[in-house]
Amino acid sequence: MRGEDIAARYLDLLEPWLTRRDALAGDVLDAGCGPGNVTDGVRSRFGRSVAGIDFSESMIDIAKGRYPECDFRRADVTALPYEDRRFALSYSFRTLQHVPELNSAVAELARVTRPGGRVIFDFVGMANPVGMARSLASAAPGFIYLRADRRRTISNACRSAGLVVDEWLTVQRFVDRANLEKYFGPLKALVGGLGAVIDSGLAIMPGGDRLALRSAVVARRPSE
Ligand SMILES: C[S@@+](CC[C@H](N)C(=O)[O-])C[C@H]1O[C@@H](n2cnc3c(N)ncnc32)[C@H](O)[C@@H]1O
Repeated sequence: MRGEDIAARYLDLLEPWLTRRDALAGDVLDAGCGPGNVTDGVRSRFGRSVAGIDFSESMIDIAKGRYPECDFRRADVTALPYEDRRFALSYSFRTLQHVPELNSAVAELARVTRPGGRVIFDFVGMANPVGMARSLASAAPGFIYLRADRRRTISNACRSAGLVVDEWLTVQRFVDRANLEKYFGPLKALVGGLGAVIDSGLAIMPGGDRLALRSAVVARRPSE
């Protein structure tokens, strides 16, 4: 799936909080914006003022080059360079799975979000065999850190940050079962015995030929 198509999935997910008559008024934060496709979509599709941060210098350079109308800067999601309550909506997609300090990241997203605002982020659930396999393998040299979380872990991170979970969502992003070897080939080679675990996990996954890969949480910073 191309970057722009992935961005469209996430923009669909954000739409209710950005365009309804009672949409959240105020600025938006994209934490872990990567090349800025979703960030710019929030600006161009919803007409919102949006800031993007990413701790990769090269990603920020790409984002700035592609989308000069957005405000991008280099920063870590666990130490955001914004004052308290700066944004109406702070979101983070395909990023927190790479952050070992999940609680610090969620606390920072909550801190920069105003009371009544929302924090929305997606995560790799434990029921997802692709994510599970990748998280197991990520302990090995050469693999990027990737965590798979239970809902309870995500709930706890939200609660400690003072957020209230409003909704759990599935991100409508799919991988064809036929293409799964791309994910699993290197992992099966790396960890002996993992192949059988993966195959039995896949056998019980719903979704026919295509697997929905991600979960997301919508959390609210309570009004005071
Ligand atoms: C898969 S990309 C997702 C980019 C974008 N959100 C999207 O969905 O297209 C993950 C991004 O998270 C960034 N990232 C990872 N850990 C981070 C951290 N602690 N703080 C900020 N960005 C981080 C990486 O540099 C990378 O650009």
